[in-house]
Amino acid sequence: MSKLPIAVLISGGGSNLQALIDKIEEGILDVDIKMVLSNRAGAYGLERAKTHSIPTCVLSHKDFKSREDFDGEMVRILKETGAQAVVMAGFMRIITPVFLNAFSGRIINIHPALLPSFAGAGGQTEAGEYGVQISGCTVHFVDEKMDNGAIIIQAAVPAMPGEDVDVLAKRILRVEHRILPQATQWLAEGRLRTEGRFVKLGLADVAKAEQDTDFPCLINPPLEYGF
Ligand code: GRF
Repeated sequence: MSKLPIAVLISGGGSNLQALIDKIEEGILDVDIKMVLSNRAGAYGLERAKTHSIPTCVLSHKDFKSREDFDGEMVRILKETGAQAVVMAGFMRIITPVFLNAFSGRIINIHPALLPSFAGAGGQTEAGEYGVQISGCTVHFVDEKMDNGAIIIQAAVPAMPGEDVDVLAKRILRVEHRILPQATQWLAEGRLRTEGRFVKLGLADVAKAEQDTDFPCLINPPLEYGF
């Protein structure tokens, strides 16, 4: 299968980037990362990319007069690499129509909460402080509003009352590392069809279409005997 050329945008540690790289190297994620772009020079994700010989670019938003100017330069750089889709993996910037229109319908983002709850930076902290029993993460298409686009996949994890937010964040991150590569593979396979707010996943092949689907379900605290 031919590989979808993508760019990955980061701002920090890049563990989600690493998850993508690992799945590519395992041979089950059919994308070619043409460039990792960070808006922060010190982002550790840049080192991860270099270790795997992926071209990197640092473009500081602080060097631009407006969000549109910054986005315009990102578009110019990324288009030059041949990237046809964009994965935002911990990229802490809001993008404008300048960027959206350049990769229309081909930008996805990972968010560390079950959207539409706890959008914005600090989703894990807000969910933890609110006292939810279940939190999780979401991969969605990006649109003009923050953390708002049509949802591709979500995963739930238990949240323990009063637990340290770092512990919850780590539990969420572990499933981020599973659903982001999966959503990226569906994008690469051209299996994501958006109808309004709904993202319909096309079938991989006829054999799978005939399989019974076992829907997993997470309930926390767990149900007790008889319920
Ligand atoms: C992740 O929790 C992501 O969902 C959020 O920022 C974090 C980035 O982690 N937007 P990493 O840089 O991929 O390690």
